Parts: sequence; structure tokens; C-alpha cells
Amino acid sequence: MLDYTHVIDGLRGRKIVLGVSGGIAAYKAAELARALKRLGADVHAVLTEAGASFVTPLTFEALSGNRAWTALQEEGAKGGMPHIILGRGIDAILVAPASANFIARLATGFANDLLSTLCLARECPLFVAPAMNRQMWENPATQRNIATLAADGIAILGPAAGEQACGETGLGRMLEPDALCDALLAFFAPKLLAGRKVVLTAGPTFEAIDPVRGITNASSGKMGYALAAACARAGAEVVLVSGSVALPLPAGVQRVFATSALQMREEVFAAIPGADVFIAVAAVADYRPVETALHKIKKSGEPVHLEFVPNPDILAEVAALPQPPFCVGFAAESRDLDAYAEGKRRAKRLPMLVGNLLADGLGGDENTVVIYDDEGRHPLPRAPKAFVARQIVERIANLLPAN
Ligand code: C5P
Repeated sequence: MLDYTHVIDGLRGRKIVLGVSGGIAAYKAAELARALKRLGADVHAVLTEAGASFVTPLTFEALSGNRAWTALQEEGAKGGMPHIILGRGIDAILVAPASANFIARLATGFANDLLSTLCLARECPLFVAPAMNRQMWENPATQRNIATLAADGIAILGPAAGEQACGETGLGRMLEPDALCDALLAFFAPKLLAGRKVVLTAGPTFEAIDPVRGITNASSGKMGYALAAACARAGAEVVLVSGSVALPLPAGVQRVFATSALQMREEVFAAIPGADVFIAVAAVADYRPVETALHKIKKSGEPVHLEFVPNPDILAEVAALPQPPFCVGFAAESRDLDAYAEGKRRAKRLPMLVGNLLADGLGGDENTVVIYDDEGRHPLPRAPKAFVARQIVERIANLLPAN
């Protein structure tokens, strides 16, 4: 059995200071605290005075399980100053939301409250998620300050465009908690695939019978998207050829949509030059109708006979290229997993295949998989798909020939 005990599980054990400055987006910081905690982080909220006027420290204490701090000189900080006690062993500071005022203070090196003092005295990376009204963001003073922060090596996350609390639309919305978590996950993930290009397929294909009907496979796309995200976090250039699913685009991933197997094949072959790894997670329909009717087939009450032809096997074709990338297949089986999975790996001449029983993974957020490769069979513990994906990436990185 492979040893994965050293794989960092999300943000487990990471001490993260969540700075909350004044702005209506502070309500989202509560959700963010929760999401960071769910990823295993040890979250310590530090609110500016203005931040605390939007959401109370108590909210963050309840969500993080840690004391939430506000002013510089706090009671209860036994044996020293809070910025020193809190400052020990911090892995990252994330200020979300970061108001125009807080950004200005950071840019000039002010240290007139606990959060700005922590930022000034830090020895860890600092991430800043601006949130403000469109005009405030566009103001040359804010833009100058942001440029200063970037030049100082501070990571600026966002802002996003969209509807604002003031009723206007434009740049200035704080990034959503998921996107902010993603940035931290990416920062801490070991860069196992740096300098590599990975092409993936994910989701189902849809083979049209007429303009409104077709045949497809059950596939949520979640495992493929989790793998694309894990590859991007591991530093790879990632192209995801996706069937029709409504999943958010993972950060750092280039996505192209493909509906049918033939379209998917075309997009894969367009992306494959220069690829080091090809991971085929898509549930490609094995057959497509010989013809697609131009117009909707009318109901006649009589039996209908459709003729199907086999689709090309995209993975087998890529694996048969004269100099193939490292090819990884997936197999979801309803029984006899070992025999079918290993049989498919050999038939398609794949260095690696990931198998799971349908009952274990289909549509859900968790999966129980077994990795098959030339060294044997490696069952992974049941885990969220994001975690399973990280372990698969680690195994790929171990087996990948050196550049
Ligand atoms: O042979 P089977 O369809 O079970 O193999 C599954 C693996 O092959 C998956 O990795 C799937 O993405 C890939 N595949 C493909 N093109 C097909 C059929 C399957 O790339 N037409």
C-alpha cells in the first residue's frame, strides 16, 4: 500500500490569520472562516474596528473555535502583546475583505491597530482580497497603493466584477470564499507538476439523435474537475476538455467544452501536442447514432429502431501515439473491479489506471478508488474527491519520467 501520510491534507495544521477590515463584504468573511476551518486550517480572526462594526468577533470565535482579536492592547493576552503571541508560527495572513482604507494603510506601513501591526511585523506570506465600491477601486490613489503592495510581494486576490452592495456594477466585489480558499490551497500545495502540461477529459458526452434527444452517460464531472484543480495547484499548465456539466472552472485551468465524443476527440488532439500527461476521466459514450436527424423525430406510436456505431476510444488513441504522454485511464465498474480495471489498463497499454466501484463514487463528493500501475494495486482510503485527486497527482508525479 502506498504511503500518503505525508501528503498535506488541504490546509490541515496551517495557522491562518484572517484579517477582516471594514466593508459590507465582511459578512462573507464569516463564511470564509468556516470554509478555511473545514479545510483543516487553524483560523485566528483579527478584526479592525470598522470590521467589527459589520460582524462581531463572537461570530468568528464561534466559527473558528479560536479567540477573535480586535484592538492592539487586548486583555487576556497573558505574557505579552497580542501581535507577538499571535504572530508566532503564522503560515499566512489573509485580509478579506481589504478596504480601500486598509490597503492604503498597508501601502504606507501604518501600524495603528492589531491587524496592521501583524501585517507589518509578519514573517509569512500576506494575501489581500480587496472589496470596495467601483469608483474607490478605480481611483488612482487605490491603484497606486495596490501597485505598491504587489511590488512588496503581497498577493492581491481579485477583486471580481459584478453587482455591488451600493447598487452599481463593476470591479470591486470581494472574491467568493471558495476562490479565496483555492488561492491558499494552491499556495501551499507542493509544486509536483511544475513545468508540466496536463490535458484532461471530464464529464459525460452527449450523442444527438435529433435536435432535442440524445444518449449520454451518467457523470457529474466532479472527479475530473477535482483532478484538473489538483494539477493546477501542483503547478501544471492544465487544459480541461469538458463535457456538458455546470461546474465552476477551477483556478488556473483552461477549459474547452465538447459535447459529443467526436468533438471531445478533436479538442483533445488539438491540446495534446507538448502534453506530459493525459488523464481521461470523461464518461465517453461508447456508441453514437449512425445519423442525427435534422428535425425532431415525430411520435408515431410505433417502435423505433436506431442504429449505432462505435465511437473512437480517445484514450487508447492517445496512448498509441508514437511518443505518448503519460496516460491515465479511469474505470467505473459495477463489479469485479480488479479484473476489469487491470484488464483495461493492459488492453489500452496505460502506465496507470484509477478504478472505482460505481456505488462508491458516482455523483457524490467522496470516492473510494484503487490505483493500478506497473507496481501493482494501491487502494486509497475513502476521501473527498479533492483529496483523492491530490493523491493521484502525487502518484503521477512519482511515476512521470524526468523532463
Ligand atoms: O473502456 P472504457 O470505456 O471502460 O475505458 C474507460 C477509460 O477510457 C476512461 O478513462 C475513459 O475516459 C476512456 N475512454 C475514452 N474514449 C472512449 C471511451 C473511454 O477516452 N471512447
